[in-house]
Amino acid sequence: MRKLVVIGLGLIGGSLAAALKKRGQAIEIIAVARRQETIDTALTMGIIDRGVNALSGIANELGEGDCIFVAVPTLSVADQLISAHALVANSVTLTDGASTKGNIITSLEEKLGFLPENYVPGHPIAGSEQSGVTAANPSLYEQHRVILTPHCENQHCDLVKDLWESVGAEVLTMSVQEHDEVLAATSHLPHVIAYSLVDTLAHDSHNENLFRYAAGGFKDFTRIASSDPTMWHDIMIANKQSVLNAIALFQNNLSQLTTAINNEDHAHLLGVFTRAKAARDRFIKQLNKSSYIDPMTQTLQYIIQPGGSVTGNLRVPGDKSISHRSIMLGSLADGVTEVSGILEGEDALATLQAFRDMGVVIEGPENGKLTIHGVGMKGLKAPPGPLYVGNAGTAMRLLAGLLAGQNFSATLTGDNSLTKRPMNRVANPLRDMGITVETAESGRPPITIHGSQSLKAITYKTPMASAQVKSCVLLAGLYAKGTTKVIEPAVTRDHTERMLKGFGYKVQRDDNSVWLEGGGRLKAMSIEVPADISSAAFFMVAASIAPGSDITLEHVGINPTRTGVIDILRLMGADITLLNEREVGGEPVADIRVRYSELTGITIPEDLVPLAIDEFPVLFIAAACAKGSTVLTGASELRVKESDRIQVMAEGLQTLGIDATPTADGMIVKGGQLTTGTIETHDDHRIAMAFSVAGLRASGPITINNCAHVATSFPGFEDLAKKAGISLERQSI
Ligand code: S3P
Repeated sequence: MRKLVVIGLGLIGGSLAAALKKRGQAIEIIAVARRQETIDTALTMGIIDRGVNALSGIANELGEGDCIFVAVPTLSVADQLISAHALVANSVTLTDGASTKGNIITSLEEKLGFLPENYVPGHPIAGSEQSGVTAANPSLYEQHRVILTPHCENQHCDLVKDLWESVGAEVLTMSVQEHDEVLAATSHLPHVIAYSLVDTLAHDSHNENLFRYAAGGFKDFTRIASSDPTMWHDIMIANKQSVLNAIALFQNNLSQLTTAINNEDHAHLLGVFTRAKAARDRFIKQLNKSSYIDPMTQTLQYIIQPGGSVTGNLRVPGDKSISHRSIMLGSLADGVTEVSGILEGEDALATLQAFRDMGVVIEGPENGKLTIHGVGMKGLKAPPGPLYVGNAGTAMRLLAGLLAGQNFSATLTGDNSLTKRPMNRVANPLRDMGITVETAESGRPPITIHGSQSLKAITYKTPMASAQVKSCVLLAGLYAKGTTKVIEPAVTRDHTERMLKGFGYKVQRDDNSVWLEGGGRLKAMSIEVPADISSAAFFMVAASIAPGSDITLEHVGINPTRTGVIDILRLMGADITLLNEREVGGEPVADIRVRYSELTGITIPEDLVPLAIDEFPVLFIAAACAKGSTVLTGASELRVKESDRIQVMAEGLQTLGIDATPTADGMIVKGGQLTTGTIETHDDHRIAMAFSVAGLRASGPITINNCAHVATSFPGFEDLAKKAGISLERQSI
């Protein structure tokens, strides 16, 4: 672009000019402003090169590659565009920054009879309660979004996109209607409410001194009521219909709240407040890009310095499998279920959100505590949209089973990694039970479950050892008529069975078979979630491989269907002692003390594979540090976890100089010296944590890319690893 003409030198126009100047763009910036004083101020500020009082003064200077940015008040934008269109050649690009788009498009169509191809409607989502050229801020658009609603694709679109990107903005496109609806809900409605609230209190209240007692909360909530009144007057008129729709929606919610307060309807009040708090917390996390991981925008790297040992007493977060199940069964129980020690990681939070979306009131999590107001077996409501479960395979597969027995249809979706994982393993048995299940190509998510209240009980032989498949069928079986039985090729984790019993539901088992009768009910209970042995495993291996280590992991679940990692490490020569063994809420628990001991490679017994299925990434690190070779077979399931853990671990070990040979169903690892290098996690939390542990025995630093998913199962891993003695630095890039 050679020349940018800014019509209207307020906050929006002035900030674009200032941003281009700050970034040293070689563009001549010409302002068009009615008042000479404004032009003089902008010249003094150094944000424009020259100014004129009317576009006609410079119209014939403009040609292809030049752009006119109309940044006048919303209701005047269409007229300015029409006169600009009449004055300049069609090769000049026209764009604007108005907060509403539909009214401008309608006006142009009415007055011109067509939409000029050189006009690209735009809206920078940035602002401030200040106005005027003196408020111009060269950083206003950095890391802010600009929405374009183009009616054709051409060089003018590209030019406007480049313009905004050159000042640090992220450009999105959407339809005019979508833009106006989204903005009415997220921007225009909040302004209506803020103005109305302050006006109500300022004028209709009998207490003149009211604001004296207002503190920070009131200030935060009402900040936007200090915005430019004329501008907001214009916006309300310009986006009238969408704003009215948004107000109607809000009025409806407010009047329901009024009734709930009047009737002391605790469930309704808690329902609204807990859902709103969860939604806001999530939104803030997203805004801070700290969580609810968006792999496109967030890259978190770990840098591990070599050496060290691990010592001390540690408590790792709550068990992921038990956390998911406690939310699910607590939601379906009669009465209030209290849960403590819940995993506050993204996976369990996704399950929590799914049940909130289906109308269950859940308080917390607050320091690991949840209060779940169960709705009974038939109390779930159809969710307002697809249930998004993030990275959580367990949530998707177990929910599929529960949804099979509902009287509504629902779709389950997940993140990039989950979208690649197989779902036919649950869709097929559910189809056998008589319902329609849709998946995307080759059985991948999204998966849509058309629930039915006439589910058929089945006997199902699971083709693979999978607790998720077993649990899915059993949970559907709760709603089926008759006996639902699952026969497994090998015993897998039995948390579903144990917890169902805890909720008073009869479950029977015999060798590799487990069955239950449909049609019963669940009675609310208290659940104490033990620490997750899968998270503890990282520190068990860390202590085993690093000389001088002596660590105690507290209150870890040692359910015999999960302790394969202890057995395998012991077979390799690890020094592991279980202390203070006890039972908590139907699950065995112990403190696990691990001291350094020289490890030797082994052939891992295949019957231990399902009992250690999540621990192989870190067990491969143990194997790399052991004397001799370790051989794993019978573990092809590892290829369909959050990543292909056989391939990804083999590649990572090879990068660090280890002789690791992947096979179809396992790996052969020859113990050796871990060296230095950069590891790709393929967005898999356990790969990131396994290689963090490897640093203890490496000869140089290890850089681990894409570690954000660690938060799915192990929030606080970095601090705990550092506390134990691993030299870990995080870097966001
Ligand atoms: C889980 C079962 C296992 C495990 C997953 C949790 C569960 O998956 O890998 O992390 O909670 O039921 P599979 O059933 O696919 O083996």
